[in-house]
Amino acid sequence: MIKPNSITLQFLYVCFLILFTSSIKADDQEVIANGYRVQSVNADSSGKSLKAILELIDGNDSSNYGPDIPLLFLTASFETKDRLRVTITDANATRWEIPDDILPRPARLDNHSAPHSTGVLSDPCSDLTFALVSTTPFGFIVGRNSGDALFNATPANNSPSTYLVFKDQYLQLSSSLPPQDGSNLYGIGEHTKGSFKLQPDLTLTLWNADIGSVNTDLNLYGAHPFYMDVRPNGTTHGVSLLNSNGMDVVYSGDRITYKVIGGILDLYFFAGPTPELVMQQYTELIGRPAPMPYWSFGFHQCRYGYKDVHDVEGVVAGYKNANIPLEAMWTDIDYMDKYKDFTLDPVNFPADLMKKFVDELHKNGQKYIVIVDPGIAIDESYEIYQRGLKADIYINRDGVPYEGQVWPGKTYFPDFLNPAAGEFWTNEIKIFQDLLPVDGLWIDMNELSNFITSSASNSSLDNPPYKINNGGGRRPVGDRTIPATALHYGNVTEYNVHNMYGFLESKATHSSLANVTGKRPFVLTRSTFVGTGKYSAHWTGDNAASWNDLKYTIPSILNTGLFGIPMVGADICGFMRDTNEELCRRWIQLGAFYPFSRDHSDKSSGRQELYLWESVAASARGVLGLRYRLLPYIYTLMYEASTKGVPIARPLFFSYPADANTYGNSAQFLLGASVLVSPVLACWNRARSRQGGYVQLDAPAESINVHVSGGSIIAMQGEAMTTEAARATAFHLLVVIGESGNSSGQVFLDDGVIIESRVLNGVYALSQNWTVGSATILGLRKNSTQGCDQLHADSNGFVKLELSNLTFPIGKEFKIQTNPCQQKRFKRLRV
Ligand SMILES: *[C@@H]1O[C@H](CO)[C@@H](O)[C@H](O)[C@H]1NC(C)=O
Ligand SMILES: *[C@@H]1O[C@H](CO)[C@@H](O)[C@H](O)[C@H]1NC(C)=O
Ligand SMILES: *[C@@H]1O[C@H](CO)[C@@H](O)[C@H](O)[C@H]1NC(C)=O
Ligand SMILES: *[C@@H]1O[C@H](CO)[C@@H](O)[C@H](O)[C@H]1NC(C)=O
Ligand SMILES: *[C@@H]1O[C@H](CO)[C@@H](O)[C@H](O)[C@H]1NC(C)=O
Ligand SMILES: *[C@@H]1O[C@H](CO)[C@@H](O)[C@H](O)[C@H]1NC(C)=O
Ligand SMILES: *[C@@H]1O[C@H](CO)[C@@H](O)[C@H](O)[C@H]1NC(C)=O
Ligand SMILES: *[C@@H]1O[C@H](CO)[C@@H](O)[C@H](O)[C@H]1NC(C)=O
Ligand SMILES: *[C@@H]1O[C@H](CO)[C@@H](O)[C@H](O)[C@H]1NC(C)=O
Ligand SMILES: *[C@@H]1O[C@H](CO)[C@@H](O)[C@H](O)[C@H]1NC(C)=O
Ligand SMILES: *[C@@H]1O[C@H](CO)[C@@H](O)[C@H](O)[C@H]1NC(C)=O
Repeated sequence: MIKPNSITLQFLYVCFLILFTSSIKADDQEVIANGYRVQSVNADSSGKSLKAILELIDGNDSSNYGPDIPLLFLTASFETKDRLRVTITDANATRWEIPDDILPRPARLDNHSAPHSTGVLSDPCSDLTFALVSTTPFGFIVGRNSGDALFNATPANNSPSTYLVFKDQYLQLSSSLPPQDGSNLYGIGEHTKGSFKLQPDLTLTLWNADIGSVNTDLNLYGAHPFYMDVRPNGTTHGVSLLNSNGMDVVYSGDRITYKVIGGILDLYFFAGPTPELVMQQYTELIGRPAPMPYWSFGFHQCRYGYKDVHDVEGVVAGYKNANIPLEAMWTDIDYMDKYKDFTLDPVNFPADLMKKFVDELHKNGQKYIVIVDPGIAIDESYEIYQRGLKADIYINRDGVPYEGQVWPGKTYFPDFLNPAAGEFWTNEIKIFQDLLPVDGLWIDMNELSNFITSSASNSSLDNPPYKINNGGGRRPVGDRTIPATALHYGNVTEYNVHNMYGFLESKATHSSLANVTGKRPFVLTRSTFVGTGKYSAHWTGDNAASWNDLKYTIPSILNTGLFGIPMVGADICGFMRDTNEELCRRWIQLGAFYPFSRDHSDKSSGRQELYLWESVAASARGVLGLRYRLLPYIYTLMYEASTKGVPIARPLFFSYPADANTYGNSAQFLLGASVLVSPVLACWNRARSRQGGYVQLDAPAESINVHVSGGSIIAMQGEAMTTEAARATAFHLLVVIGESGNSSGQVFLDDGVIIESRVLNGVYALSQNWTVGSATILGLRKNSTQGCDQLHADSNGFVKLELSNLTFPIGKEFKIQTNPCQQKRFKRLRV
């Protein structure tokens, strides 16, 4: 590795003056609440944890949303020096919590015997503090040693909407926030939004649903009750509510209020104080992102509606003839026999031709990926259905498998909470893999999506008293999914685990693929939950071919990164509706820099393979050429993500947290710490940027602005048609001298598919004979006193140096000394 060094801030950034308005207003059904008072507080002997008994304050009838739970336990504890946990639950009954074996985490301490007089927790090792506020009703504050309140759940004067409410199917907790940009919130998803920074007066609903990402502000495919809060000088913390039930999160600008329809309040506060550290601390809890195979950073092509295997072969040939790199070819449900999982259409995608096609792809260093949906067709002659019945792995309702309807018609759904379903899934994947050796699996429709809405029982699970804003219209929780009263393994209700279905399927699929192939799995899932990044990549779902949708992809991708899923992309050129040449060209210019880069379109929209328009093809060759040259850099970011949880695509404030101008930026992002991507997001646009002030950048039709920050060294390789071929080329170092004169960077190398990598510090790289063949050095100042006539400085006095025909092995130190005109010693580089 090239050792990291302090990175100098010297950069340009761009800002578009686009205003977004967000629309859904909170509904104001007021809960009549009296709140709770502290009855007693005890601490454990270490003083790092306390437990309070809270009693309901008697008062006016509060039967709205059901009876209040009279007695609660509140615990607060330091779990690590950077993580404080606060839980509130029923003192007299066990309630639903995300099982430990699904999301492993420390047990709650339960041996508090020493009376505790202050209700305050602090720890010399931690910057975080906790204080119970024994007002009537009570409150609590999580803060920093400086005195700053991070989460202030003390009740506002006579305002019951700020009191703690705890009922069986309605939990409410509210925190005040510093007003007027005193806090900047990011996260709480999944939603399509015009602004990455949360805008006030929003109700953010979390209930996984098959709602197209073309819709703004509606609950989409994933549930992530996590936010990051950047305070004005860049000091950042994170807050996670670990709860799988449906909820509305109401953000008003100076207050955030959770309205949750089940489970317990299980809150984690992450001290930061930088955005990167918050991500490290959050993913330490929920699981670090899965490493992705090297090839998955190549370019992918898909479409719903490819007619047959010849059609697909034609697309592969189209890319080849146009000289545009294509790493992986995908097919949507078209390849299946009547949309049944793990089958091939015997007429249009027959096994023998498919096998030949996939072998040919593999021979050319390319990959093939197919879609799989969770619903198993009910069909007596379908062996997979029979094996599922026999293994008894379907979700039940009223004692029999629940029958829904998806693409193949009537279906049962495997219950991935059941360990036997994991075995069933692995076995089916193995059998299919023997038929057709696919390179990854794409799991769709796993919200769960259901084409029918079954009638509700009169259980309050099917019809909870508080209506979350499902679909923007407070639709029933069972709307086009499986009913909340359906039962999973262990008698767990769908009501409680609904939001976790896609997560559980990702986990099972990841484990199956690792087992069947012995290689690092590639799984792409639509539905996600807290911790999904440990198993799967994500794409943002069904967007549309519009300039707005293009713009929305940046907030969506940045948010997914905050949720611990760094491998993310949006359908390039738009999924629904017909795209057009200019939009598709601008979209590939941006999409070439998504961590996951795939063109995908809907059956009812026009074709949009990149070679169909000459101007799009030319742009694609340029930007994908740059992407492939950057592969070693991007892959190193993947390694950083999988070891530290830091996203690949990052908001600008990750590198410049103290610069408040970055907080509202939804139009640009960074790849890692060093590469700034400034796309054109409207058909009339011209990029604008600034260094202290705003600067106009040319944004010619065929290109996108990409900058490298001073002080960076970027490891690159050559352009090629596949990642495999690119990996065989010599390395090129792009060195940008920072103001300090020092630059640094790192590169991580392995074989790209091994399941778990270990850092060997150069030994592996040397064994592969990788060399640095050339370098470009930017940012050198010409010393005019020395008469170096052959060096031409640009108008700012900088000289660009190109070094070629080098043969430095990667893994050994080397030193470059330039000629006397411009003497510069480089740090020793060690890989
Ligand atoms: C309380 O329980 C925790 C976890 O079981 C243990 O580590 C700790 O030592 C216990 N403290 C006391 C005072 O018993
Ligand atoms: C009960 O309701 C009355 C009238 O709305 C109000 O004045 C009173 O403060 C309430 N009492 C409590 C304990 O909330
Ligand atoms: C409820 O829990 C509290 C605190 O542990 C206990 O004192 C009380 O006896 C319990 N009440 C019932 C009805 O179980
Ligand atoms: C940031 O501001 C807070 C006050 O809001 C202060 O306590 C803290 O020390 C500041 N941090 C830095 C790095 O300036
Ligand atoms: C509906 O609820 C009523 C009263 O709670 C009960 O008597 C009845 O059996 C329930 N009906 C069904 C279909 O569950
Ligand atoms: C689930 O509930 C059924 C019926 O109430 C009961 O017979 C069964 O033992 C329960 N199973 C588990 C694992 O709790
Ligand atoms: C796959 O699972 C089987 C059964 O658990 C096990 O015997 C085998 O070693 C696993 N293979 C791999 C590559 O993990
Ligand atoms: C540059 O690197 C050298 C050698 O590691 C170090 O001594 C020096 O302090 C660095 N300069 C700056 C400004 O970081
Ligand atoms: C690297 O070079 C050595 C010596 O020329 C050769 O034996 C070895 O096979 C090469 N390794 C690879 C992976 O090309
Ligand atoms: C240019 O080089 C001369 C001679 O080495 C040196 O004295 C002078 O400081 C240099 N100027 C700059 C701007 O680096
Ligand atoms: C570098 O190598 C290329 C091709 O191998 C050769 O044409 C060129 O002359 C070399 N340049 C130098 C400066 O040695």
